[in-house]
Amino acid sequence: MNQLKKLLSLFLLFTFCFLLFSPVTAKAAWRDPVRAQHAIVASQSPFAAKIGSDVMKKGGNAIDAAVAVAIAMAVTYPEAGNLGGGGFMLIRFSDGRTTSIDYREMAPKAANRDVFVDKDGNLIKGEGSSTVGYRASGVPGTPAGLEYAFKKYGSGKIKWTDLIEPSRLIAQNGFVLTNRLANLFISYKGNLEKYEDSKKIFLNNGNYFKEGDSLKQPELAQTLARIQQFGAKGFYEGKTAQMIADDMKAHNGLITLEDLKNYKVREREPLKGTYRGYPIITMPPPSSGGIVMLQTLAMLEKFDIRKMGWASSEKYHVLVEALRRSFADRAEYMGDPDFTTVPLTQLLDKTYLEKRAATINLSKASSSQEVRAGEVQIKEGMETTHFTVIDKNGTIVTNTYTINDLYGSGVTAKGTGVLLNDEMDDFAARPGKPNLFGLIQGEKNKVEPGKRPLSSMTPTIVLRKDGTPWFALGARGGPRIINAVLQTVINMIDHDMNIQQAIDAPRIHHQWLPDEIMWEPFGISDDTRKALESLGHKFTERPNYVAQATGIAIEEKTGVRLGAIDARGDGEAIGY
Ligand code: GLY
Repeated sequence: MNQLKKLLSLFLLFTFCFLLFSPVTAKAAWRDPVRAQHAIVASQSPFAAKIGSDVMKKGGNAIDAAVAVAIAMAVTYPEAGNLGGGGFMLIRFSDGRTTSIDYREMAPKAANRDVFVDKDGNLIKGEGSSTVGYRASGVPGTPAGLEYAFKKYGSGKIKWTDLIEPSRLIAQNGFVLTNRLANLFISYKGNLEKYEDSKKIFLNNGNYFKEGDSLKQPELAQTLARIQQFGAKGFYEGKTAQMIADDMKAHNGLITLEDLKNYKVREREPLKGTYRGYPIITMPPPSSGGIVMLQTLAMLEKFDIRKMGWASSEKYHVLVEALRRSFADRAEYMGDPDFTTVPLTQLLDKTYLEKRAATINLSKASSSQEVRAGEVQIKEGMETTHFTVIDKNGTIVTNTYTINDLYGSGVTAKGTGVLLNDEMDDFAARPGKPNLFGLIQGEKNKVEPGKRPLSSMTPTIVLRKDGTPWFALGARGGPRIINAVLQTVINMIDHDMNIQQAIDAPRIHHQWLPDEIMWEPFGISDDTRKALESLGHKFTERPNYVAQATGIAIEEKTGVRLGAIDARGDGEAIGY
């Protein structure tokens, strides 16, 4: 009996110690990243992550995988994955070279500064506006961007047609809709049902899809087959281009055959900076994301963020003050560098940013009016998607692409299965005059033929101090992207989180105007909020999620690839 008691006490003692010291006890507070020995894809579409991982298993590199992922998302993630939009691909090769591929949409030739205002100078709403219908679309860049990346940086071991084939088959044979996707179509029926092909494909001709139904996209499968056969020309010329141009012409749209044929990819030198000695590689203009993030980080470097604590009012105060200053610069100075001078050197100059940081008063919020005269409202589509890939050699691709709002302009070009973007809304629709919100937008981002609209997409790679890659990420969510990426970087560097914790942790958003802090549900404590209010900060009436990030990291000692999908969204990290 005594023996039994002894055994039982030992067992209880062991259990107590296990619960006390095992990391398992702490796991309720966070998720671990997904681990893979050689290569990993983190994508908001599980189908796409699997297709990309398989490409690398067969010997393809991260660029091959990224191309396959982007094509797969165009089929399996129609809210944001696309052929009819554009984006940015940031690459760091295993030998340390870096580049970025800008395949942002271009304004059609017939577009001009006043294309979205009526004869009385008022902003056009509904059809004919910059957000919905045929006129809202810029010339898509995705097919050209993917082909450019493949031809210049692909491994040469996987054929173009083989990268597309799994996705073409899914488009042709269908895939099973999750509850989220089936309901999302219905949520967007207001726009989708206005356009015949969108209604047919995504609303099942009015017999709305349910969870478990299969979504087949035979026209998209045929478009993909033409891209398989002719490369990007299978989109920009020939039958697909003709169908897009005809549909545009029939509906008073702007994009012509000539616009499609003249689409140009740009390869750009990435922006480089540091935060507390960690090198950061990010996207240059026409994205504002990289500059705004580097400016904000440079201002934050002047403060001991680690000591302030992760979600303290003190930290949030200086973060908001820094954001207020960098977003004000965004509005005034940023646009397409092919059309306007963006004073990059001055904006990222350490002395300039030190002076900006020195105007932050630790005991009082400044107002956005006093930070810069003039009012600029940053209103951008909130929906985009990001994926990140690392291959077995350590080459990283971090790619954000978009059709702007969910389901873009709502238009599926007749006969092509291709949903078109509403990226024209990322231009200032009425520069110098109040927009729909009574506020004024900047001249540098006015509509001009052939110009690319200013973006917030922020694909980013961070290195360790010894120059080896540490983590890479990006996000969806319009201007909130910048904050999701920025705060993940801070979480990793200042707060020692792992990539999954850093992405999942609650965050805030401020973009200069409107002058208010956006907060997340259960993302800020009441007393932190009160402390910030007592400094003069204002909060949005309702909470909202601050973007959705997707990233990878490399474990320091083992080189294991770690993948992380934001708890705010869906997706999967898959590797081998
Ligand atoms: N359309 C969202 C962005 O480019 O930032």
